[in-house]
Amino acid sequence: MRTASISLTTYNREVYEPSDDTFLLVDALLKASSQWPKRPYLCIEIGCGSGFASCALALILCQLGLPHHLIALDISKDAVTATRATLKAHGVISADVVQDRFQDFLSRTEQQYDIVVFNPPYVPTPDEELQRTDIARSWAGGWKGRIVIDQFLSYVPKILAQEGQLFLVVVSENDPPGILKALEELDSSLSGQVLMTRRADEELLSVLHIQRR
Ligand SMILES: C[S@@+](CC[C@H](N)C(=O)[O-])C[C@H]1O[C@@H](n2cnc3c(N)ncnc32)[C@H](O)[C@@H]1O
Repeated sequence: MRTASISLTTYNREVYEPSDDTFLLVDALLKASSQWPKRPYLCIEIGCGSGFASCALALILCQLGLPHHLIALDISKDAVTATRATLKAHGVISADVVQDRFQDFLSRTEQQYDIVVFNPPYVPTPDEELQRTDIARSWAGGWKGRIVIDQFLSYVPKILAQEGQLFLVVVSENDPPGILKALEELDSSLSGQVLMTRRADEELLSVLHIQRR
């Protein structure tokens, strides 16, 4: 299966460089895609950065012959510019790229998505780091790395379609079992599991796969 290529991906000092977490996310999408039913998909990637994962998702869906539309969203203007360039370089035309905070975008919409992808700022940092407006927004996650993640979790019951699937990148410090429990407490129809885990230097990365029962 062809996914995104680094040589066709745009990133710079202001845009998160595709890294081990990005590649794990794409591997998890590839793994799950073998079970995806044949129907159209409405997808969103929150925090698209360079656009590498968005591009990979669109290419996987294309190769499976699944009609889809993708929204690639990021708070950063530089990330949005990079994602547009990355999608164009790969010939992906099924995506709209939007600059917005997910908190604002998801509050405004009533749309539900079949595939939701988020590699969030998950690194435990002092909470003050969350005020930064530079590349630190890519990783600064505040206490236990959970501040942005927990904000996002509160939108999941609203945005995940009945047969929708959420792919969320986390590290061990985020307490993955606690995230799955929090989601179940928010909406008892949500249920998740660890789809893939990989060690990358000091990080124990996982991709959580959440669906409705
Ligand atoms: C860890 S990076 C992931 C980038 C890319 N998806 C990847 O996997 O390589 C997190 C991304 O989330 C974006 N981001 C952080 N806070 C956000 C928010 N509140 N709303 C939308 N995007 C946000 C950052 O700008 C950054 O591009």
